[in-house]
Amino acid sequence: MNFRFDIIVEYLPLLLKGTLLTIGISILSILFGSVLGLGVGLGKMSHRWFLRYPMSIYVNFFRGTPLLVQILLVHFGVVPLFLGTTNAIVASIVALSLNSAAYTAEIFRAGIQSIDKGQTEAAHSLGMTHFQTMRLIILPQAIKRMIPPFGNEFIVLVKDSSLFAVIAAPELMYWANAMRSQYFKVWEPYLTAALIYFILTYSLSKLLGYVERKV
Ligand code: ARG
Repeated sequence: MNFRFDIIVEYLPLLLKGTLLTIGISILSILFGSVLGLGVGLGKMSHRWFLRYPMSIYVNFFRGTPLLVQILLVHFGVVPLFLGTTNAIVASIVALSLNSAAYTAEIFRAGIQSIDKGQTEAAHSLGMTHFQTMRLIILPQAIKRMIPPFGNEFIVLVKDSSLFAVIAAPELMYWANAMRSQYFKVWEPYLTAALIYFILTYSLSKLLGYVERKV
């Protein structure tokens, strides 16, 4: 086995361009996913069944089916329905946001429900409204507990975005595959891609550790 560093050097600009798309898709998906997830999570905690049931079904569907299947459904089904044509990057962001919302919904719910009931009761006995209790007592504590699972979620998104190579979104894995097809080489593209993913997730987890210690 002769390891060809020259083809890594040749493909490096494309791999890095793909890495930028990987980062972009992940950031947008965690943002959209969190906003949507907050709604879904609140809906799941609601006392109204017509909010709770659909949100439960949403979470169960997106957590209970493979992300790969969801990607193909969104890419070949949902996006053409709205845009009239396929678009791999749009499909990637939509699919990953929808998927992530199901997981962030549970992060929100778990974070809020982890705060002891006594705190709510104490706040109410001081005359606070439900909204004040949430904003001043529950959320400040709950958000602190949500930071680690949120960080994990972001790391999962970075890694799972590699699945978008199957719909030819030109992210990191897509270029690694292109490199393999052009040179019939396996170790060079995939070890390089693995290293780049590792650098991304490792620096993210370090950054998260830092944020956690600060908070
Ligand atoms: N990779 C798994 C799947 O195919 C899990 C996806 C996890 N997604 C997430 N946003 N945490 O279903």
